[in-house]
Amino acid sequence: MEAAELARRLAPQPLRSITSLAGRTRNPANLDGDVRSGGFGGAEGLARYIEAEDVTLVVDATHPFATQISPNAAKAAELTARPIIRLERPAWQKTEGDRWHEVATLEDAASAIPSGARDMLALGRQHIAAFAARHDVHFVVRMIDPPEAPLDLASYELVLARPGKCGDEEVFLRERRITHIVCRNSGGTASYAKLKAARTLQIPVILIARPPQSFANAVGDIEAVLDFIEAHTGLRLA
Ligand SMILES: NC(=O)c1ccc[n+]([C@@H]2O[C@H](COP(=O)([O-])OP(=O)(O)OC[C@H]3O[C@@H](n4cnc5c(N)ncnc54)[C@H](OP(=O)(O)O)[C@@H]3O)[C@@H](O)[C@H]2O)c1
Repeated sequence: MEAAELARRLAPQPLRSITSLAGRTRNPANLDGDVRSGGFGGAEGLARYIEAEDVTLVVDATHPFATQISPNAAKAAELTARPIIRLERPAWQKTEGDRWHEVATLEDAASAIPSGARDMLALGRQHIAAFAARHDVHFVVRMIDPPEAPLDLASYELVLARPGKCGDEEVFLRERRITHIVCRNSGGTASYAKLKAARTLQIPVILIARPPQSFANAVGDIEAVLDFIEAHTGLRLA
């Protein structure tokens, strides 16, 4: 999301931007600038790519729950002596009326769901296995891409959809008679609507905290990244 916005902001500038995708999303959004896809082969592979493409600086705008690529990017930047900045969307903060139960891991989230719940799982297919043992819960699983195989859940329905606006999310939660939501604290606006809707409907949210990661140079907004690019290139960005 932030990476796409950054690419859009850089498109009219006198520089070349390359957005790197892991290549897992089947229909990625259109992105401005150059786009490449697929793993690099670890930090060393990324370092080779940086040298081969004569990259001036690195912006790590990957998802807060992507725990491998960020240290790889930091290591590659170190190996190639390139400046690096981390763009990370701020985590959501609990506000009055929220019924959040914050947990550290997927497994903790699975344990926190009460027996008999109708639980909305707003998670990708690679995170579902942690809930397989909960035969006493009905899951409403919302995903963007269809899973390749049936999900390993005893009782579930699958909804292929992107997050909606707050009103749509309220309708969704009511119509599916959701009693609990499990999701991750991804931050950003796109998937926050379901949390607002949950507040309105007083539905408890089991919220998985971000994995601990340390970044030497992290910022929360695109303007700070543009300042960083200006400082390291001497360009004046319009
Ligand atoms: N984790 C999430 O919940 C989530 C949610 C939305 C979007 N995403 C995005 O999806 C991508 C993959 O997420 P993940 O959690 O699987 O990552 P990850 O665990 O941090 O990375 C696993 C491996 O995937 C490759 N990779 C990851 N991001 C890449 C990128 N932007 N460009 C090229 N290769 C990349 C790297 O392979 P090599 O070692 O071979 O280079 C990396 O070692 C990330 O870019 C992330 O921003 C993730």
